[in-house]
Amino acid sequence: MKKVITYGVFDMFHEGHRRLLERAKALGDYLIVGVATDQYAYHRGKYCVVDPVETRLQNVRSCPYVDAVILEDRDGQKVEDVAKYGIDTFAIGDDWYGKFDFLRSACEVVYLPRTPGISSSLLREGRYPELRMGMIGCGRIADRFMHELGYLREIQMVSLYHPSPDSSESVRRFLSRYTYVAKARTLEKLFDQVDAVYVASPHGSHYGYVKAALEAGKHVLCEKPLCLSARQAEELFALAEQSGCVLMEAIKTAYCPGFLNLISLAKSGVIGDICDVESCFTRLTPKNRREWDDPDCAGSLVEFGSYTLLPILKLYGTEDLRWSFQSVTDPSGVDSYTKVLLESGGRLASAKCGLGVKSMGELLICGTRGFIHVDAPWWKTTTFSIHREDPADVQHFAYEFLGDGLRYEIGDFLYRVRGYAGRDHKLLPSESIKAAEIMEDFLRRRARDR
Ligand code: CTP
Repeated sequence: MKKVITYGVFDMFHEGHRRLLERAKALGDYLIVGVATDQYAYHRGKYCVVDPVETRLQNVRSCPYVDAVILEDRDGQKVEDVAKYGIDTFAIGDDWYGKFDFLRSACEVVYLPRTPGISSSLLREGRYPELRMGMIGCGRIADRFMHELGYLREIQMVSLYHPSPDSSESVRRFLSRYTYVAKARTLEKLFDQVDAVYVASPHGSHYGYVKAALEAGKHVLCEKPLCLSARQAEELFALAEQSGCVLMEAIKTAYCPGFLNLISLAKSGVIGDICDVESCFTRLTPKNRREWDDPDCAGSLVEFGSYTLLPILKLYGTEDLRWSFQSVTDPSGVDSYTKVLLESGGRLASAKCGLGVKSMGELLICGTRGFIHVDAPWWKTTTFSIHREDPADVQHFAYEFLGDGLRYEIGDFLYRVRGYAGRDHKLLPSESIKAAEIMEDFLRRRARDR
């Protein structure tokens, strides 16, 4: 029996896929098809796959030429599969011409002509028009955001709103670099031109901009911290719900594969009951920067608390949480280093943030049977290890974190705007609201003690 194998994502199964499988089967007697998992499709730069893996598997399985279906979840798997399944012929569309010649030492490699005029990308574009996005504010994060946005062809940044004149340095620089982005004179004009808004203005202005965007019926991706008041955060999420819009806080860590797996593993009991979580994020920041200069919302906790509180809220939930603060305060009254000490049902945690004090950017999760140590910088979760009493009993884990990682949150934002199922568990409104409550409490106490 001559065995043939082929691979693909097979999103929105179409005639091009069917014809490829028909011709692949004709090369032998038994056809095995490898279907990329959601995570592997993501890894290969397909951030906007519509059908979940179950649907894609089902579609391929129902195709009459297919004898067996397997999942493909990693680079290098093809070499192993060819040996494991005793493959005679590897077949794939000729958009991959030459890419799999390395398999020739193990089997025959055939590149089949693609069916012209059809692809999953074209079908996605037809079903979902390009998302037109506007940006409010264009500070330091703007360039990184624009770079990462380049990985998602489905979104186009078309307009910028910035309250300062066109001659201001940051606006001029932004518009000259991204010549396809027009400057909107007013917020209303911006909203007229776009479907969604990315809010990247100073922290204190988020609430007003997000509210205005939601009232105009626009989806919103807002830089962290979403806002500095629990009541305002609640109001914004309620408004998003009423207006049928997506509101998402842009905490990249919450959407990256390593962090998601870390949290799932920790919750699965691998280190027993979790009793302590220690997270830390510091970045020594020059005193002339915005992070120091606004007495109402500047400082270490406001700057980095969205990161350091995240694993704690994910692992302990948002109910029954109590907290207190300890800070090293700058003469200006701004905290140059803050520790939030938290307690939830007898479990402990600490979140350390520093603008003027340097520490190790690690995350430690301690349990009754062991601990998980996430290497710095933990917020770009790439490697972590599970340790137990026996020092030799260590398990290592490694994950990919592509570029600046913003593509993960942007990809999820697009998924949610398009209404795909099963994607909104990564950062819950209740978690954004609780972080806002903790920061609000901190700022209230700081103002009172000043
Ligand atoms: N294929 C084909 N003819 C097409 C589209 C795809 O022969 N018109 C083949 C590909 O060459 C590959 C297999 O079908 O061997 C699975 O391709 P996949 O990447 O899943 O589908 P595409 O439609 O190419 O997806 P996208 O537009 O996202 O790249």
